[in-house]
Amino acid sequence: MPPLTLADLERVQRPLAEARPFPGVAYVDPALFEIERREILDRSWRCVGLAADVAAPGAWLRTPLAEETLVVVRGEDLALRALYDACRHRGAPVFEGESGRASAFTCGYHGWVYDSRGALREAPFAPPAVARERARCGLREARVEVFAGLVFASVDPHAPPLAEAMGEVPPWLLRAALPTARVAHRARWLVAANWKLVVENFQESPRFTRVHPLREARTPSERARSWLGASGAGAWLGGIMPLRDADETVSLTGRRDGRPPLAAAEDARLVHDAMLFPLLLTSLQPDYLLLYRLEPRGPEQTLVRHELLVHPAVASAPRDVLDFWARVHDEDRAICEQQQRVMRGGGHASIGYASCEDGVHAFDVRVARALSPALRAEASGGAP
Ligand code: FES
Repeated sequence: MPPLTLADLERVQRPLAEARPFPGVAYVDPALFEIERREILDRSWRCVGLAADVAAPGAWLRTPLAEETLVVVRGEDLALRALYDACRHRGAPVFEGESGRASAFTCGYHGWVYDSRGALREAPFAPPAVARERARCGLREARVEVFAGLVFASVDPHAPPLAEAMGEVPPWLLRAALPTARVAHRARWLVAANWKLVVENFQESPRFTRVHPLREARTPSERARSWLGASGAGAWLGGIMPLRDADETVSLTGRRDGRPPLAAAEDARLVHDAMLFPLLLTSLQPDYLLLYRLEPRGPEQTLVRHELLVHPAVASAPRDVLDFWARVHDEDRAICEQQQRVMRGGGHASIGYASCEDGVHAFDVRVARALSPALRAEASGGAP
């Protein structure tokens, strides 16, 4: 299969009516995936969890990010930090597991001890440098910020501040009661498909009639419209879908059963999807929020970490909501994996985007734009 070319990227970036989607190689090529990691995935702020999960002093969660492993930890001083999980002695990991709560953390190799701020407290077998400058021997810090109850981290010291990187935020997310929402359900699953296929699938609704009959019944796709922000060039891309007139929410029954809203009153009859480029997918329903945090594991495999957030007064995840989305998630996974198999075959040559696929196109344009400097440099034999 020939590699992705600058001409392919140029065709993606044409105006919607003349643009051509990526050829199949863009979804399978390990070399291109490495470029994506370098130019897009590892450079971006990544949503790594929920602030509510690290609210208490000493609470921590561990997450892979780029080639690193970070631990987001709430210090005894209540500050939130993202620490590299790499002991300052000889680099062994200090944390075990995915999350927990403790006031001190002991490296399992030679027993150096760090506190919840990452400061070095005890150091058996310490080199002389520790005695000279112990204050500089704590776990190294990456960047961390919180937006709407979501924790974002970055290992790129040159990345702009999170607010600047996000740009225009979809107004429905700003209006919703997200900072006080609580997690009612978590799940994770692997999709045997490239991360771009997973996002592209999220970015459109024409599939509802055939792939998601349950969704089509609640939010008819013919009434959906895209939200591309005022500039049309920001990091957030979204879609707005009115509920069917008789429904109160998206679930098997369509009923809220008295559950308090999470969305603002003006959004009570709408479903709002929004993607934060490149890997965070959100779907705000009247009474709950769906989060999908993507972790590309390779060119043809994507881990999806999923949370369902509800109003704090809701005791448990509604069964009819969980069952509804379990079916939709299976349907999405199946169609993405089928597409991936076609991409691998090399016979795919898409001829264009439909006008209702403007959200897919907008996402592809961001990818193409981010890849262009690296491919141009490769073509000229230099560094980007
Ligand atoms: S590597 Fe951690 S104490 Fe030696």
